[in-house]
Amino acid sequence: MNSKGILTRPRASGKTDLTRRALDVNVRCNQGVTRFMNTPSLQIVNPAGHLRVLVTKPLPGTHWLDVLVAAGCRVEIATGDDILSGEEIIALIGDHCHAAIGQLTESWNAGLFAALKHAGGRAYSNYAVGYNNVDLPAATACGIPVGNTPGVLTETTAEIAVALTFSAARRIVEADRFMRGGQFNGWLPGLFLGNLLHGKTVGVIGAGRIGEAYARMMVEGHKMNLVYFDPQPNILLEKSVRAYGAFLTTRGEPAVTCRRAETVDSLLEESDVVSLHTLLDVGTRHLINGERLALMKPDAILINTSRGPVVNEAALVAHCRSHPDFRAGLDVFENEPAMAPGLADLENVVIVPHISSATNWTREGMASLAACNVAAILQGYPVAAGGDVRPFLAGTPPQVAPSIVNARELGLG
Ligand code: DGY
Repeated sequence: MNSKGILTRPRASGKTDLTRRALDVNVRCNQGVTRFMNTPSLQIVNPAGHLRVLVTKPLPGTHWLDVLVAAGCRVEIATGDDILSGEEIIALIGDHCHAAIGQLTESWNAGLFAALKHAGGRAYSNYAVGYNNVDLPAATACGIPVGNTPGVLTETTAEIAVALTFSAARRIVEADRFMRGGQFNGWLPGLFLGNLLHGKTVGVIGAGRIGEAYARMMVEGHKMNLVYFDPQPNILLEKSVRAYGAFLTTRGEPAVTCRRAETVDSLLEESDVVSLHTLLDVGTRHLINGERLALMKPDAILINTSRGPVVNEAALVAHCRSHPDFRAGLDVFENEPAMAPGLADLENVVIVPHISSATNWTREGMASLAACNVAAILQGYPVAAGGDVRPFLAGTPPQVAPSIVNARELGLG
């Protein structure tokens, strides 16, 4: 145990019952020593806690641990960067586990929720705002509340979408490679010509929290006109763009405009930049396919910071190949961590490894929210009605679970 009361178990030599059980199951499931070597070691915080909480990856910050420890939890953290398989997680759950905090890279399916339930599990939180990796009906059928982490990713994700937009529009990555390659022999009138976005049209598909934040950054920062598609009108967004447009006219500048598109297709046809901010579900899988890409302007820009499968990546590769002036900026991929064949060879695509929420403040905030979700449920607290999540990010959190996505189905809120 170290000075912070953190007990660490070395890889494959941890002699706790829990790690031994995990090793046994892995050997049985995988018939060999390869998986045995991959069994994650566990870091244990507050060994005397009476509620066992499994956390499938180390999380940033310490506030989240304070929250769980104050709730009487023994926190067991799987160390290491490998993505855990279902079998590995079931082994780590074992037969005594009150709650779990999992990752968007793990498939929390019926098998995992059954295992958690069987082990005495009463709560699960995704360490993400998105929860397309969670079988929600299965969790609900097991009576397990599922938490997520909204509110702390909004601006962070919108900023990455903006960064990708300008990287694509102004060919930043290509130009950086050119410099590093020693190819810059002096200023030229035609060197790396890109797209000016000021005064053009930005199309936002999905005008929830993140879509709205991105839209406002592009409208207020870069004077773009907004067209958005969302099944629900976003009246506050429309009002704020109108108010900003009125402000611009007082300065003698052209007003920006805002319109809700009737169809995705019409938005694609008229936008110079399209940014995707939808949930991934059956209705949005491959929302952007070959036919829809063909509707876009030949020099348009497509940004995806939502979920990879919203775009048919093979169709995007083909489109970018045949339209060299078209550009894309991607933070997410259809089969993460893999990329569609040919994507990495395209100069007109900017690609980053799903880092939209990767700021210290956001990732620590996500950890606090996930911990507050499970700690609150384990302590029998009610579920918050939504709203400001800041009170959960430091100090003693309010006595409610900040965000439980199946609260209504479970009669919790
Ligand atoms: C989420 O939380 O859903 C994000 O994709 C993580 O960056």
